[in-house]
Amino acid sequence: MNSAELVFLVLYLLFINLVSQGQLEIGFYSQTCPNAESIVKSVVREATLADPRIPPVLLRLHFHDCFVEGCDGSILIENGAIAEKKAVGHQGVGGFEQIMKAKQEIEAQCPGVVSCADIVAMAARDAVALAGGPIYAVETGRRDGRVSNVELASDMPEVNDSIETLKSKFRNKGLSNQELVLLSGAHTIGTTACFFMPKRLYDFNETNAWDPQISPSFLPKLRGMCPQHGDVNARIPMDPLTKDKFDDQIMRNIKKGFAVLASDARLYDDGFTRQVVDFYAGGSKFAPDFATAMLRMGRIGVKLGSNGEIRRTCHAFN
Ligand code: HEM
Ligand SMILES: *[C@@H]1O[C@H](CO)[C@@H](O)[C@H](O)[C@H]1NC(C)=O
Ligand SMILES: *[C@@H]1O[C@H](CO)[C@@H](O)[C@H](O)[C@H]1NC(C)=O
Repeated sequence: MNSAELVFLVLYLLFINLVSQGQLEIGFYSQTCPNAESIVKSVVREATLADPRIPPVLLRLHFHDCFVEGCDGSILIENGAIAEKKAVGHQGVGGFEQIMKAKQEIEAQCPGVVSCADIVAMAARDAVALAGGPIYAVETGRRDGRVSNVELASDMPEVNDSIETLKSKFRNKGLSNQELVLLSGAHTIGTTACFFMPKRLYDFNETNAWDPQISPSFLPKLRGMCPQHGDVNARIPMDPLTKDKFDDQIMRNIKKGFAVLASDARLYDDGFTRQVVDFYAGGSKFAPDFATAMLRMGRIGVKLGSNGEIRRTCHAFN
């Protein structure tokens, strides 16, 4: 190789590097697919009118997408027995039909432009707004992943994890202890299956007793909603007072021993996260800080530039 060739090679590699970097930005599709955001919003709105359970389902989908392989739509892939979406940690996750519907409508206008990962992020944003939560500009420019494997889902936080484990699972994704509290605040809307309750109510951490973080006045109510040998598929609200409203009530519940999910109650086990809960249980900072934490969650492990792909359909690799 002569020196001219070498210079060319170096410049070429620099160029490829620049092209493949890319970055997330607000309005990434404003030129290439100007209606993308409004299409997603109207699909989410219509689906919610037909079924008020949709906003929490779509919000949860984004969290589960981001925590495994980054926010890259890997949870949407249907690749048989090894599909990531079949992981125990993803039990009960839904919203797939709404994402597929939005993708179809977007493809009709601008084929091959908008990633499924971005549609999931936009739908979560619209879900929060529809439930009365903060309205924020969502970052886009993610590309879809080319991997879906059930074994990768062990990164998911579990309902019976200790506060130490919850903190470290979030830290491993670049999220702080404060963001753990804020993002758990998503449980201000939606429901849980009784499937996730028995340990907490009847055999907490192998103690043969209930979780000591449950207020004595709340314990009989929770046990009444999820009896020991009852229907594991029965669904109960995670913020019983205001289950459809995205507000900061969940923080006051945790403070008073009225958390429904064990992992929410764990936020009161630790001095630091307890202070964070107390902070958001008063005042008016929860909504704006939740929005900021959602942007941070939406950046986990994103594939940019020439990494990944823009899928033609959300449930299959190209
Ligand atoms: C801190 C760790 C977390 C754990 C252990 C956890 C666990 C759970 C569990 C067990 C359920 C009930 C699922 C069902 O029965 O269908 C649930 C529901 C939900 N989670 Fe989480 N979660 C966590 C964090 C998050 C985060 C960060 C978000 C979003 C930012 C989120 C959003 C939701 C929503 C909206 C629901 C309600 C879903 C519905 O109504 O169908 N969760 N979560
Ligand atoms: C926590 O719960 C999951 C199911 O949600 C179960 O597979 C796991 O064994 C439990 N872990 C502990 C330590 O109890
Ligand atoms: C369960 O008990 C063990 C041992 O005492 C402790 O290390 C762990 O943090 C506890 N887990 C929860 C969820 O409280």
